[in-house]
Amino acid sequence: MSKKEIKSLPFAADSLKGISQKTIEIHHGKLYAGYVNKSNEIKDKLQVIIESGKAEGNQAYSELRALKNGEGFTNNGVYLHEDYFAILGGDGMPKGEIAGKLAEKYGSFENFKTYFSACGMAARGWTVLAWDMHEKDLRIFNCDAHNHGGIWGAVPVIVLDIYEHAYFIDAGSDRATYIRAFFDNLNWDKIEEFYQKAKKMEWE
Ligand SMILES: [Fe+2]
Repeated sequence: MSKKEIKSLPFAADSLKGISQKTIEIHHGKLYAGYVNKSNEIKDKLQVIIESGKAEGNQAYSELRALKNGEGFTNNGVYLHEDYFAILGGDGMPKGEIAGKLAEKYGSFENFKTYFSACGMAARGWTVLAWDMHEKDLRIFNCDAHNHGGIWGAVPVIVLDIYEHAYFIDAGSDRATYIRAFFDNLNWDKIEEFYQKAKKMEWE
């Protein structure tokens, strides 16, 4: 059975502007790694239930319910964090087909940045620019928790972690400063790579 591995950061932990080494080391080394480990643990426990041939569920409480809830929470915790770290470590200068597409869709790149940043201020967990396979277009979605608000058939292109652990050490409660730092550190080559892969995906 496949196990998730902890992915290395694509940048040095002390190299970001406005997001400290301490924040990144806790965020990646403790929180993200914790989701990877719990995801694997849950998968192992589900496998035991599957192989027993005696799976039983109860929606008020059951071991299976707890595991299935944890499965959704931890897997999204892994994938969202990996996509968040993957697009950091750059010079923050928008480029590529994606930058043009965002300017076209939102009127200007600045309009996109303003709207995306405002969505970040309105979220409790995540703001995600995603390729919607159904609409075959880019859209911005908010999630209040890893397993609350995700859209089936939408592939992340720009993921913003807006939980307080992402910025409180560096910016206190000043979330807007953190969002500006996030944009300053974006790696637009990687974002373009995600966009090129995502836009090939279509659903009915
Ligand atoms: Fe996080």
